Amino acid sequence: MAKCNRLSWGVVVIGLVVGMYAALCVIYKLDSLLAKWETVREISNFVHKTISANVVDIDIETIGPNFLPRICDNTYATTCGLSGIFGDLRSALEYQASTDNVVFLAGLVDGGYVDFAVNLHIMSIAPHNICNILYIVIDKTTLSTTQQYNMPVYYHNISITNKVVGKYMSPAFREKSKIKLDITEMALSMGFTVLLTDLDMFFRSNPLPSIACGEGCDFAIQDNANNKPGQDLQLNTGFILLKPNQQTIHLYDEIMNESSTFKDDDQVLFNKIVYRNRSAVKMVVLPPEKFCVGKKSNPSHCIVFHANFVAGLQAKKAMLKRHKFWGYGSSKSELYVCKMK
Ligand SMILES: *[C@@H]1O[C@H](CO)[C@@H](O)[C@H](O)[C@H]1NC(C)=O
Ligand SMILES: *[C@@H]1O[C@H](CO)[C@@H](O)[C@H](O)[C@H]1NC(C)=O
Ligand SMILES: *[C@@H]1O[C@H](CO)[C@@H](O)[C@H](O)[C@H]1NC(C)=O
Repeated sequence: MAKCNRLSWGVVVIGLVVGMYAALCVIYKLDSLLAKWETVREISNFVHKTISANVVDIDIETIGPNFLPRICDNTYATTCGLSGIFGDLRSALEYQASTDNVVFLAGLVDGGYVDFAVNLHIMSIAPHNICNILYIVIDKTTLSTTQQYNMPVYYHNISITNKVVGKYMSPAFREKSKIKLDITEMALSMGFTVLLTDLDMFFRSNPLPSIACGEGCDFAIQDNANNKPGQDLQLNTGFILLKPNQQTIHLYDEIMNESSTFKDDDQVLFNKIVYRNRSAVKMVVLPPEKFCVGKKSNPSHCIVFHANFVAGLQAKKAMLKRHKFWGYGSSKSELYVCKMK
């Protein structure tokens, strides 16, 4: 009897093992699906927590359905994961920065610039699988669009008094410059290396490896390539890599202190303060043949192209289109768009 019992137990055990193996096979097949669902769930919890803990006045009912849940069946989402909206800068940076604490900050995204933000994403960020990026959004109404393209967003809860697209040196322009300075300084103070980029840009590849800012370099910046002979190089603050150290934080402190009373724009102020005390910060000026400004008529060798030196969004868009650096609205948009459930 005991022998028989042992035998049937043996059969049960073998049965269990075979059964579990079969179950594992099924689970293995389902694994990728489950992993996707898990990511959706985690991000959903995270975003919900972040938003509700930090941006109490956001109407979650309004923006909720636009960013969750969704299926992004594209290479960017596969490589970089599903992204969300962060209401707290520190969480956003910790979540998005690379393991060595480097992060691209792209902005500012508002109603006027959302096309440029999506274009940057689908033409320059997603094709090179640049995961360590945060788009700084200051206008809630653009969030549904950014989430349709799985763009990682830091939503800066600030009410802009000047809603119009900021013409150069208009009050709106000044207000937005101040926000950018503020966020940059905060990120540096939190210990992140920041690659601050405007949205009217095209990257032919991930620009980071081409930026030679090693030991003894505090920041690397785009050359505006418009200095008169014998003058200092004019620095373009639309593309700048900043190391988080005493020197750069102090530099931003000074800029912020003087920006409220300075009559010119923040780029002029940046140049003034950098050149006022040349020994205070060590900079690298990026070569304009590779980090090009908008005057370049044949940008085929540019790693980075900045559509500047033209006024107005339409002219910038036309410039990017002319060089085939504009894809938003074309079939290229389809590559990185997510399906909303
Ligand atoms: C968001 O901004 C509004 C308007 O300035 C303010 O009343 C509210 O307290 C802010 N919320 C948070 C969490 O900072
Ligand atoms: C900026 O202004 C504050 C307040 O006036 C001052 O304490 C600080 O030292 C200033 N920082 C710099 C770098 O000038
Ligand atoms: C220039 O910067 C250096 C290094 O931070 C500092 O020691 C020096 O006092 C500064 N000079 C002036 C005139 O501000």
